[in-house]
Amino acid sequence: MWGGRFAGGPDAVMAEINASIGTDKRLWRQDLAGSRAHVQMLGAQNILEAADVDAILQGLAQIEAEYEADGVPEVLALEDIHMTVETRLRELIGPAAGRLHTARSRNDQVATDFRLWVRQACLEADAALKAFITALLLRAEDHADTILPGFTHLQIAQPVTLGHHLMAYVEMAMRDRSRFHDAAARMNECPLGSAALAGTGFPIDRAATATALGFARPTANSLDSVSDRDFALDYLSAAALAGLHLSRLAEELIIWASQPYGFITLPDAWSTGSSIMPQKRNPDAAELVRAKSGLFLAAFQRLAVIMKGLPLAYSKDMQDDKRPVFNAHDTLALCLTAMTGMVETITFNKSRMRAAAASGFSTATDLADWLVREAKIPFREAHDITGRSVRAAEAKGTDLDGLSDEELAAIDPRLTPAVRSVLSVEASVASRTSFGGTAPANVRAAIAAARQRL
Ligand code: ARG
Repeated sequence: MWGGRFAGGPDAVMAEINASIGTDKRLWRQDLAGSRAHVQMLGAQNILEAADVDAILQGLAQIEAEYEADGVPEVLALEDIHMTVETRLRELIGPAAGRLHTARSRNDQVATDFRLWVRQACLEADAALKAFITALLLRAEDHADTILPGFTHLQIAQPVTLGHHLMAYVEMAMRDRSRFHDAAARMNECPLGSAALAGTGFPIDRAATATALGFARPTANSLDSVSDRDFALDYLSAAALAGLHLSRLAEELIIWASQPYGFITLPDAWSTGSSIMPQKRNPDAAELVRAKSGLFLAAFQRLAVIMKGLPLAYSKDMQDDKRPVFNAHDTLALCLTAMTGMVETITFNKSRMRAAAASGFSTATDLADWLVREAKIPFREAHDITGRSVRAAEAKGTDLDGLSDEELAAIDPRLTPAVRSVLSVEASVASRTSFGGTAPANVRAAIAAARQRL
């Protein structure tokens, strides 16, 4: 393809380090689509004759059929997907194949192929997140008034509803969707026709190829077009945040499945046993999601480090851009599918959750708020009275409701028996009706709103 200038061939290791076909063969559909759009445009602009355009299109169709069937042989010396396709085209249709590369370079070709691939990956991530959200919404609806402890510092803080807790992950996943959506919209410009770096003297129609490939418009600057990989970094950063969210949920499932908590039971389908401890039921899938989600951050860093020192325009370093993106894509799909499956099938152990929610003096804030509301005591003073109540209950080995009327009155005369109405976990969650709060009524409204947004 470029041997004209050379007297000798490459060293065997040169061929090996130079080749990317093992990785970039995944771009074959995009490469064929880009070539099709390009050659049709060349025909429409009278840069190529109709007979050559037809022959090239027929050859490309044949190559597509071969890829659909069992691929095209990989030859290291052919370096990449672009040369592999063009070489096969030459075998099929002869020298006319050489006209396909008119007004084009592999630099704009790979930038186009890769954008097409990553744009599709954004759509796939979006669809997988939508399925994940759908699963969360169903479970949140079932458990709009199931009560579990809410934690801060992993210490029992206040009772919350499970529906509310699950809806927190819906919010994260919605933001993830919007990030993939933004990324897809931002990358939706076509670099094809930027040629090697400077554009071309042929009278090409970049708007036509952009439209043919479903892009909103051609990219504006040829140097940027062939040297930009922001679109892949955008994808990886969206994946990194989605992975971070999946990892947090995985972590919670692991904790909740642990016997001292016992909040959930994972079904057989998402658990594994131990080869030595017959009683074990391990949350391996959740643990692996937690582990794998680190890969997205690594992939982002890998590509950012490749790019950060590169002068304009293309450098061969950029050939190493694909593997982190492909790995991230495959891992994200696997993690989202696994988490969706787990969310759909977890058993929530309501009585364990409720019992835990009622422990740890979780309604102490409700008591303080009651003093503020009913006895018009400043919150800081109410906090102190409540703190003394907790201390008394702890000394007695009971919860707040276990203090007698006399004991409460001894702490502060304004603690009348009427306070008992706010000490249950049910009353506590039902009272939290501020916008975004955990009350079951709010959860149902949030689910309805989320369904609208979905
Ligand atoms: N395989 C190359 C890549 O992925 C294609 C572009 C090669 N361009 C070049 N001038 N050698 O980046």
